[in-house]
Amino acid sequence: MEKLEQLYEGKAKKVFATENPELLIVSYKDDATAFNGLKKGTISGKGVINNRMSNFLMGKLLEPKGVATHFVEELNDRETVVKKVQIVPLEVIIRNISAGSFAKRYGVEEGIVFDEPTIEFSYKNDDLGDPLLNTYHALALKLATKEEIETIKSMAFQVNDALKAYFKTLGIDLVDFKLEFGRLSDGTIVLADEISPDTCRLWDDKTHEKLDKDRFRRDLGGVEDAYQEVMRRLMGE
Ligand code: TMP
Repeated sequence: MEKLEQLYEGKAKKVFATENPELLIVSYKDDATAFNGLKKGTISGKGVINNRMSNFLMGKLLEPKGVATHFVEELNDRETVVKKVQIVPLEVIIRNISAGSFAKRYGVEEGIVFDEPTIEFSYKNDDLGDPLLNTYHALALKLATKEEIETIKSMAFQVNDALKAYFKTLGIDLVDFKLEFGRLSDGTIVLADEISPDTCRLWDDKTHEKLDKDRFRRDLGGVEDAYQEVMRRLMGE
């Protein structure tokens, strides 16, 4: 499959048309941003890791468990064929352990293990800084239908169950993560975007060392090594 014209360039990926109107090619970059693009940098090798990790988790872990995703075929280290979707403009965040904006918003320390996972939604809108909203707001803004929101919620918890158990076998606690969903041309909701150290908080379950983009966001150093370590545990390399 060949890349045709570039349709879109985001903060971490480029998207290209293909000869098939139902399929796109995504190309993962090493560019990293944080705080809605305010902080910019490069994480060398990140594009390769995020591409391969996301494809592995969607294609080998989630699809076999019945979670529909946009993943079609990995073309090479940085490029993947995905189903064309209309992205639902909601960032869906699941949390198992307190961290990040949750800890800040509610004035609690990081590292509190929840009895049950939490779910929250943000309106995917960079100009507004992705404001938090609830499902009533999402309905009022016509971002998704009631049925779509129910589907998205149940898929997100299913993804959490699968990912959390799988990362645990690698000695990693899945602290929290962000998902995006899309609609196929027939309206079917599928998991889209990526699952990577950019979009998940991953802590070593013994040392609690951070193995994710927080090393970049918080200037902790060892960013590349952390991404490599996740890749090594996941794919044995
Ligand atoms: P938060 O604690 O900053 O709200 O982040 C929750 C999770 O969502 C964390 O794993 C990082 C991920 N995330 C993104 O993937 N993109 C974003 O723009 C933000 C703010 C968070």
